[in-house]
Amino acid sequence: MLDFIGEKRRTHFAEDLNISNVEEKVTLMGWVHRRRDLGGLIFVDLRDVSGIIQIVFHPENEGVHKKAGKLRNEYVIGISGIVKARSESNINKNIKTGEIEIEAQELLLLNDSEPLPVQINENILAEENLRLKYRYLDLRREKIKKIILLRHEVVFAIREFLTRKNFFEIETPMLMKSTPEGARDYLVPSRIFKGNFFALPQSPQIYKQLLMIAGFDRYFQIARCFRDEDLRADRQPEFTQLDLEMSFASQDEIFQVIEEMFIYIFRKTLNIKLKIPFPRLSHNEAMERFGIDKPDMRFGMELIDLSKVIRDLEFKVFSDALEAGGSVRCLVAPGCAGYSRKQIDGLTDIAKHLGGKGLAFCKVEAGNLTAGISKFLTSRDIKDILIATGAEDGDLILFAADSNKMVFKILAEIRNHFGRELKLYDEDEFNFVWITDFPLFEYDDEKQKWETAHHMFTLPKEEHLKYFQNEEDYGKIIGQLYDLVCNGVELSSGSIRCHRLDVQKKIFDVLGFTEEELNNKFGFFLNALKYGTPPHGGIAPGIDRIVMIMAKAESIRDVIAFPKTLQAADLMSESPSLVSQEQLDELGIAVTTKAQRHEEKEDVIAGRRIIVVED
Ligand code: AMO
Ligand code: AMP
Repeated sequence: MLDFIGEKRRTHFAEDLNISNVEEKVTLMGWVHRRRDLGGLIFVDLRDVSGIIQIVFHPENEGVHKKAGKLRNEYVIGISGIVKARSESNINKNIKTGEIEIEAQELLLLNDSEPLPVQINENILAEENLRLKYRYLDLRREKIKKIILLRHEVVFAIREFLTRKNFFEIETPMLMKSTPEGARDYLVPSRIFKGNFFALPQSPQIYKQLLMIAGFDRYFQIARCFRDEDLRADRQPEFTQLDLEMSFASQDEIFQVIEEMFIYIFRKTLNIKLKIPFPRLSHNEAMERFGIDKPDMRFGMELIDLSKVIRDLEFKVFSDALEAGGSVRCLVAPGCAGYSRKQIDGLTDIAKHLGGKGLAFCKVEAGNLTAGISKFLTSRDIKDILIATGAEDGDLILFAADSNKMVFKILAEIRNHFGRELKLYDEDEFNFVWITDFPLFEYDDEKQKWETAHHMFTLPKEEHLKYFQNEEDYGKIIGQLYDLVCNGVELSSGSIRCHRLDVQKKIFDVLGFTEEELNNKFGFFLNALKYGTPPHGGIAPGIDRIVMIMAKAESIRDVIAFPKTLQAADLMSESPSLVSQEQLDELGIAVTTKAQRHEEKEDVIAGRRIIVVED
């Protein structure tokens, strides 16, 4: 019953055709999107990669009509016929080819299909895990298909733009020595060097710097990166960066290339004109004003520091926080004084969920503060708070008192919550902002040691090199680090690198690496720095996040053809999966449980490696 394609070749894609093709004979290939039998006439919506077009089968053409009667959804067909204009009343404005249809003359049934386990219909979306199991069917959905094709356009525009700007696309290894980017590595065992492992790249960071040392001057790569970290809506274990690096470039030059590139991508793929230069905000200013280093600047509602405003402290929550060196800050939610107890409890829960102790509130009524903690405030403080906040009748004020870090964390989240809740921004806006001047180091209270706030290969500001002399000053060292943020999402990170071995060594000293660790981990890189390393810097925008923002996708999974779940699993191929004993033996790997670990100690001594599986 099935036909072979034989010599039949397609002449057009569905959406190539329009009213100007009327009376032409055409051949199309695709899937049966929908079939309707109207007594005599049979209508089939044929779907191909471009879109949908209606095919009509007339009963007069008996053989073909009969065959069309047997078509079911998702059967694969080839049809030849004549393009006809639809009558005025039959025009379908919902599809691009709605003014025409094709009167079928021949029909090839190229393949049939079992009924689909997931519907290809935006209105009755199946549960996500089922869609991921049958991802190849989910990808037939118009919405997802469009995003995947947009992604192609974006990557193509990037390649075009950078090639014209004298960048070279160079591949770097997938099997490599681990580059520390802060996440856990995915390891790959070596068969030849048993007990030794490659790491999959968390990013091509070290290699791109080596390419600068090699003299390529400007490099880019559409680079796959792997990080075994806790996943979220905008994180995948396997993702793609536009990784780039430039020699002899300043921060300003890197910003300019990136800004022009975004202008090019947005104009070419979405026909949207972005305004440049993107505004810049220092890390410190971003924190003070928005409580976060990736502020959504499509709306205001900035944080207000009350630490020096409130004077007659009777409220212990506030005085304790200030005495402990923290701060009291607030946000004004416009027009929210009518919030119910339940709604306010909901906000308090957000604060508690983030590890805070609570969230205090007051309402603004008749030029006064009422409800909540107003009873603890003197009239002098009330007046000063009203002046400092500019709050008006009908507003709700929310206060957090804690360490600076916690206050920022809570109020940033509350601010974003109100942004969404009160629809404070234009959904169609793309608001880019550079965040600059990040501190180079942060003290980790738990581990009791200094960590890089971002990136250990970053050049500090030249005038801050003096702070390396004294541990008390480490926190003051500002790195030549920058992020590009759009609508509250961190799109890119980058920095001017440490091209001098002496400065790089100082950084490793602060981080507390021993000489041996250094040689083991980065010996090859430190060695390379000795042989004429040019000043250089770069950046790596995440392609998945760019496409997410452009397509307004809710989940990063929607912009990746074959994504993983939040548990880092592929439901379609059912991986990760067990492997055969033979494969393990070849690699010298024994898989064992914790209980067995003890017994297998001897194997370790005998040179075999053990992977512990939690049971
Ligand atoms: P960083 O680690 O900040 O910097 O990553 C740069 C950008 O990559 C994207 N990204 C991710 N996207 C999806 N899922 C993930 N798990 C994920 N992790 C990161 C983000 C982020 O802004 N080598 C440096 C860059 C440099 O300094 O040039 C680096 O990797 O969009
Ligand atoms: P309590 O004195 O603990 O009953 O708290 C009184 C009010 O202050 C409640 O609304 C708490 O949610 C709030 N609150 C408690 N701790 C803090 C804090 N650290 N910052 C802001 N508000 C807080």
